[in-house]
Amino acid sequence: MTDEIQVLDETRIRTIRFNRAGKKNAITRAMYTAMAEALETANSDDVRVVIIAGSGGVFSAGNDLVDFMEAPPHIGGGDMPPVERFMRALMACEKPVIAAVDGLAVGIGTTLLLHCDLAYASPRALFSTPFVNLALAPEFGSSQLLPGSVGRVVASELLLLGEKWDADKAAAKNLITGVLPEDGFEAKVTAIAHKLASLAPGAVKTAKMLINQPPENLSDRIEREGGHFAGQLGTDEFKEAATAFMERRAPDFSKFG
Ligand code: COA
Repeated sequence: MTDEIQVLDETRIRTIRFNRAGKKNAITRAMYTAMAEALETANSDDVRVVIIAGSGGVFSAGNDLVDFMEAPPHIGGGDMPPVERFMRALMACEKPVIAAVDGLAVGIGTTLLLHCDLAYASPRALFSTPFVNLALAPEFGSSQLLPGSVGRVVASELLLLGEKWDADKAAAKNLITGVLPEDGFEAKVTAIAHKLASLAPGAVKTAKMLINQPPENLSDRIEREGGHFAGQLGTDEFKEAATAFMERRAPDFSKFG
């Protein structure tokens, strides 16, 4: 265990926080393992939303470079290194994950955002993926996902030139969901998490799963959605939503799992 990752559960919201500000929240193997465990268990725990946050005015300076030299990870090369376990846990997390980027997000600090469901930044956030600058290569699908979300020639600014983007540019280019004021930044992200946590959990899980399906023939997608739509119509949470509408009250999904 490491105290360089803090995991806090409050009102069905799990916050996973980098707690190594002295090293700009550079991520070690022990930290990846702790984050992987927190994400893996979120699937079965009474957690509805996960927030990944930084500390000390930094999100993360990326992989610990000393660790990189001491134990270079080989992704997909046999024994799963902690960084891969963490990223696979993030990709497999059934609950929505929100990134709260209040400061620098370097390397995997930016890559991981591509696998979160929502990502908010404060005005002091700065994003960069200087892999080529470090004589390394893009990681964890970023060479595919980033061109997909921001466009290929724009993605090359980050992945080829290693340029830094500020929060406004990151939002304008669709790298992140939006920019929130620095004053009360985390409280605002938490309010969004509460909003998500108050929705019907089965519907949230289904929508997340569908959004993250690989592209397919539209007709196949319509059928896939139709199956889930029909399934949701038979759930107690739909009954609650419909009843609340008829009774002109807010739905209460707190008792659903
Ligand atoms: N791995 C290990 N240690 C790191 C680190 C990293 N990725 N990033 C920062 N640190 C450490 C520094 O070595 C320094 O440690 P020290 O105080 O014991 O000397 C401490 O964090 C503070 O960093 P410093 O460089 O003095 O802060 P800064 O505000 O001037 O710059 C950064 C911050 C993030 C811009 C700069 O540290 C940096 O470029 N880090 C490397 C980022 C990177 O390349 N990440 C990997 C991508 S694959």
